[in-house]
Amino acid sequence: MVTASEPMIVAVAGFDDFSDIESAWWRLVEDQQQQDYRGPIEELQSPLNIERVQRFLESKIRQSRILVAKEHGELVGICTFSRDGFILDAPTQVWEIADVWVEPHARRKGIATALIRECEQECKLRGADEVRLTVYALNEGALGLYQSLGYDVSSYTLSREFNP
Ligand SMILES: CC(C)(COP(=O)(O)OP(=O)(O)OC[C@H]1O[C@@H](n2cnc3c(N)ncnc32)[C@H](O)[C@@H]1OP(=O)(O)O)[C@@H](O)C(=O)NCCC(=O)NCCS
Repeated sequence: MVTASEPMIVAVAGFDDFSDIESAWWRLVEDQQQQDYRGPIEELQSPLNIERVQRFLESKIRQSRILVAKEHGELVGICTFSRDGFILDAPTQVWEIADVWVEPHARRKGIATALIRECEQECKLRGADEVRLTVYALNEGALGLYQSLGYDVSSYTLSREFNP
């Protein structure tokens, strides 16, 4: 557990945090639509998708792979981590950090920094030699955050729209 500036804490999420994490996760999706529009949010929040997200988050909590940041007991940020999808057995282990979200009212106080640093520790404990994350090219806030934490650009994702 990291305590950045009291009374903010970062901890591995438990099932008690489930409904707060679920709402935060959907706010993250809605926010990311600015860079990666996938259709009206009402359509994304279909019963099938809601169930999928619940299953995804449940499995992350079961595996202790979600961190939460809380201020005065209120959930103000989340992030997840997992081993990357490289299919070969390799001596170098890469883990990925994702789903980084801090509530707008709690930003610029070091909460994402504390979440990422704790994620890095959790990944290291599980054998990671390296952590990676993905960010949209136009997400200036997140780019500023990751640069401030010493992350370098190591790959590009290229895309081409069929119906621009
Ligand atoms: C990006 C985000 C996680 C940052 O959270 P945060 O708790 O405000 O970040 P921190 O307070 O730890 O910021 C640390 C440093 O990162 C940089 N930074 C953070 N937000 C920034 C912004 N909007 N613009 C430029 N730099 C920024 C700054 O260098 C900052 O240090 P400073 O406040 O002393 O200048 C938050 O804005 C957020 O949830 N955004 C929407 C979701 C998102 O984009 N998630 C990332 C997906 S890849």
